[in-house]
Amino acid sequence: MTQRFLKEVKQQYEALPYPVRDPAEESRRLIQTIGDNLLVVNHFCYRGRRDFQSGFRCLVAGGGTGDSLIYLAEQLRFFDAEIVYLDLSEASRAIAEQRARQRGLTNIRWLTGSIMDLPALGVGQFDYINCSGVLHHLESTEGGLAALNSVLKDDGAMFIMLYGRYGRREVYDMQALLREYLPRDASIPEKIAMGRKLLAALPATNSFRRNIAMWEWEFAADGFGDVGFYDLLLHSQDRCFDVPEIYALAAAEGLHLAGFPMRGERYDPCKLVTDPAVRQRLASMPLPQRQALAEQISSTLRTHEFYLTRRDHTVASLADEDSALLLFWSLLGRHRWMAEQIRPGQAFTYEDGDRSFSMVGNEVCRALLTAMGGNTPIHRIYEQVVATVPGATREVARRELHAIYEFLHPAGYLYILEPGSHGTKLPDYLRSEYVC
Ligand SMILES: C[S@@+](CC[C@H](N)C(=O)[O-])C[C@H]1O[C@@H](n2cnc3c(N)ncnc32)[C@H](O)[C@@H]1O
Repeated sequence: MTQRFLKEVKQQYEALPYPVRDPAEESRRLIQTIGDNLLVVNHFCYRGRRDFQSGFRCLVAGGGTGDSLIYLAEQLRFFDAEIVYLDLSEASRAIAEQRARQRGLTNIRWLTGSIMDLPALGVGQFDYINCSGVLHHLESTEGGLAALNSVLKDDGAMFIMLYGRYGRREVYDMQALLREYLPRDASIPEKIAMGRKLLAALPATNSFRRNIAMWEWEFAADGFGDVGFYDLLLHSQDRCFDVPEIYALAAAEGLHLAGFPMRGERYDPCKLVTDPAVRQRLASMPLPQRQALAEQISSTLRTHEFYLTRRDHTVASLADEDSALLLFWSLLGRHRWMAEQIRPGQAFTYEDGDRSFSMVGNEVCRALLTAMGGNTPIHRIYEQVVATVPGATREVARRELHAIYEFLHPAGYLYILEPGSHGTKLPDYLRSEYVC
């Protein structure tokens, strides 16, 4: 029989709450966990049509020190909503509670316990469940997902993060080495001290050593330090998944994979290779196979972050021409500015921290971008383009819009929503605390 929780996992998170957070920081910044952004949830899980103003219930399962919890509670602060926090670790909960107090959030209900207890807890049904970086630490990921599903409403959605198989290869090599090397009865501090010594002594040929730059921030002194070292390399229960395994996990619970928010392009193999013949073959494959191959081709996906829904066809679509479009993330509120940057025939490069993209625009593209402020229905956008751009037809506008969408949406810069719902049925992301 599956255990309610793993003793060693609870011990770890009581001693080393993860991620490391200082509640005093709440007065200086809001951590935005993108999968929990309600505009994004709305797009992938509610066809862009959800009204979040009344009665929205969220569960943050394995909420840790509170990142997703705080972000959800902040977005729903002015709406009638309830956010339930559940975690095994009392030490993690104490930090999350301090963070919520620091922000004056009063819309959270606090529970200490296991995800496996959910079917019997009597906490009601939820519209949205966040479970990020947790299910792969349970004795049974499948059992954990079933427990979450037992409290999900019929039209509800989950955001799940699980470790990726190919992007963490060297981590599993290092975990195996440490398991062999460390005395079984060593305490947590002894394991960390001896583990760090071994890591420092490794030759340059070692697989983890070779890739250490990818992981170092996790356990550096100015990163998560010893907490990160233990979580990454010494965890007693750590399972990883590839794309086919994610589909299988979802299917076993009758759930649909609604998408990979913000990182859709990383699951498109055609964006990873340049050879036209290879691209053509990849493009001819069904979506789950394409996504599986993208993971293997890039082999850099350390985590999978995705939505699961009970109902199928929950993702918003350009075919719904009564919907509107909103430029988002660092482009929020900048649709007119963006349109002005487009010089027909010339490449425009947008720099956004460590990301950047280039597009070559035209007059149609300019006119389309101007209307991406979240209020104009797509059918009216087409009419405006035809009326204002000499020679443009509805078909040209449609084709151009699809091209822009395919370019901006997978990277998280463009979403579909009900006209006028931003700031009314959805939180107003132009408020100063949300500007990113
Ligand atoms: C890696 S942390 C992730 C925390 C948080 N979800 C985040 O993304 O920041 C894993 C969390 O899952 C919790 N956890 C592990 N097993 C659990 C279980 N069976 N039920 C509830 N929480 C659990 C741990 O206590 C820990 O706080």
